[in-house]
Amino acid sequence: MKQIGNYLTIAIDGPAGSGKSTVARLVAEKLGLLYLDSGAMYRAVTVLAIQNEVETNIPKLIELVKTCHIEFKDNGKKILLNSDDVSVQIRTPEVNNLVADIAKVPEIRHEIVRHQRKIGEEGSIIAEGRDLTTIVFPCADFKFYLDASVKERAKRRFAELQTQNVDTTLESVEAEIRARDEKDMSREHSPLQAAKDAIHIDTTGKTIDEVVDLIVAKIGSRH
Ligand code: DC
Repeated sequence: MKQIGNYLTIAIDGPAGSGKSTVARLVAEKLGLLYLDSGAMYRAVTVLAIQNEVETNIPKLIELVKTCHIEFKDNGKKILLNSDDVSVQIRTPEVNNLVADIAKVPEIRHEIVRHQRKIGEEGSIIAEGRDLTTIVFPCADFKFYLDASVKERAKRRFAELQTQNVDTTLESVEAEIRARDEKDMSREHSPLQAAKDAIHIDTTGKTIDEVVDLIVAKIGSRH
């Protein structure tokens, strides 16, 4: 088994709304692993850009990213940017709209990936995002690719937004998901793609608990 040091590394990739964040968080709780939400780091960098008004000044943003401090608290539930809790800010519509354009910059990805690998060296981990199985942890012990139909992913996201009283329609949520898929999958650097040796799980029609149980069973049968 290809463990990093004595630690277990589990990597999950998949598109927005595939359920990977919720699933990874629950698997982390069940197995006592560190949870790494890699998307939250790209979102924190987007907040950094907004705070410093350098959304379009990429060279300046790269400089800021090199010296900024991003850390997780409460096992991934909170994210701090230069000691400020930005857990709420990273989920705003402004960040949703900007993040894919910031996450496509190779120099920014380089810094974030370095940081993610360092976190991976600190303990057993379950990490999720778009390039965890392919670029960040290509030697992970377990790799999963979660997916679901666009319609199902839009329905999930719409239900979540309704609980937050966000005024939107299912159609516009579906359009936003399609646009984000297109950006994440077609970008030049580290596009979202399934690693050749990843276990594919289609979460369409499955409950979160069913997916968690599937993953725990796969891990349990081999480690
Ligand atoms: O998973 P999320 O929606 O929080 O991700 C936010 C954005 O960050 C998304 O547009 C893709 C990008 N991202 C990425 O490029 N690489 C990752 N490993 C994780 C997220």
